[in-house]
Amino acid sequence: MSQASNGLRPPFPPESEMQRFNEVAARLVDRQFYQLGYPFDQNLNLTGFYEWLVTTGLNRLTLINVSDPYKTTWDMLNTDEFECKTLDFLAESFGFGKDAVGERSHWGFITSGGTDGNMHGVYFGRKVLAAKSPLPPILYVSSEAHYSVQKLGDVQNIETRVIRSHPMGAMDVDDLRCQLDPTRPVMVVIAIGGTFKGAIDDQRAVAAVLDEVNPVAVYKHLDVALFGGYLPWLDDPQAREVVDESVMQFDSLAVSGHKFYALNEPAGAFLCRKEVLASLHAMQVPYLNGAIPTISCSRSGFDALKFYWRIAVTGAEGFRAEAKHILEMTDLLVSELRRRGVEPLVNRWSNTVCFPRPADDVVHEYSMACTVCPYFGPLSHVVVMQFFTPELITRLADRIASPR
Ligand SMILES: Cc1ncc(COP(=O)(O)O)c(C=O)c1O
Repeated sequence: MSQASNGLRPPFPPESEMQRFNEVAARLVDRQFYQLGYPFDQNLNLTGFYEWLVTTGLNRLTLINVSDPYKTTWDMLNTDEFECKTLDFLAESFGFGKDAVGERSHWGFITSGGTDGNMHGVYFGRKVLAAKSPLPPILYVSSEAHYSVQKLGDVQNIETRVIRSHPMGAMDVDDLRCQLDPTRPVMVVIAIGGTFKGAIDDQRAVAAVLDEVNPVAVYKHLDVALFGGYLPWLDDPQAREVVDESVMQFDSLAVSGHKFYALNEPAGAFLCRKEVLASLHAMQVPYLNGAIPTISCSRSGFDALKFYWRIAVTGAEGFRAEAKHILEMTDLLVSELRRRGVEPLVNRWSNTVCFPRPADDVVHEYSMACTVCPYFGPLSHVVVMQFFTPELITRLADRIASPR
């Protein structure tokens, strides 16, 4: 049977509703390349994927993945295989190698977005630390890290200390040293790309402070939402090692799928070292045939297909070219702004370009993100993604520099 046979689900809504659907679609497509303040690629090319769903008939199914994607026996319709292929590809990009017996050293799952990945970082961290010390942990995160981290500390009822940031947005490790309590377990969330200024926290400096203070136990989670997409593909080895587990020795990370990896709706991946999973003592759910390590239960089976589709059509070489392109376009935007007398702020390896907030009509025309910074005053930013071209940059720089 190819579709609901009771006639209650025709393929399209009534004409009266269709009109509104079509109006909204036309308006959104028209504004496709005018949303520059947010890190989404707007030149997706997922057409082949959607055609494939229709040709295969998968568009008629509900596909849910649940529990550990690496499980081997499971009857529910699922796309675990593609979830694992995605995770393995990403894990390799983050330097997770093989363990002593030659097996993968990572575990993970496809998340519903960056916050979901951070939520699991905080949750898994809490469990790992609880196995090492009876004392409650303290969560440390910089003031410029994504706000989801502080919110998650609140939701998971963990004492949270917000560490001061330097003017350009990286965590001030002197403040970390002052605020660290050596008697309590430490959970530190490190921002690899602060949301507004795109600053990268200095993991070696954080590690040096932790060595010096020597707290009872430490868990390190990296929020690499956007930057974790492109840093692994840059030529510069120093950029790559920022997100390399074998060099930086973090416990887990959360990367987004709808940012650099150009999926068209929120998704991401949570990855951790396999030992982290082992200390979780995941809840046993007999009717789901085993242990459920995740907080969220049902996950989109289509996300797993789509994520791996993106990987399969782009490949490592394609991601390298895209990563190079976005940093070249970032350099071009910076120089075009300077040529017009606008002084931008941009961190090393960052594709997020901040500048003094332009006139309101420019802000709205390009959907720029804005803030008021205590050091630099009112700022706006744009995030340079794969769809940026020299023509777009010239037009944008002209508008930003136009008199108010
Ligand atoms: C650095 C960082 N972390 C986490 C998030 C939250 O991700 P999501 O909106 O997918 O939940 C964002 C979103 O922009 C982000 O920039």
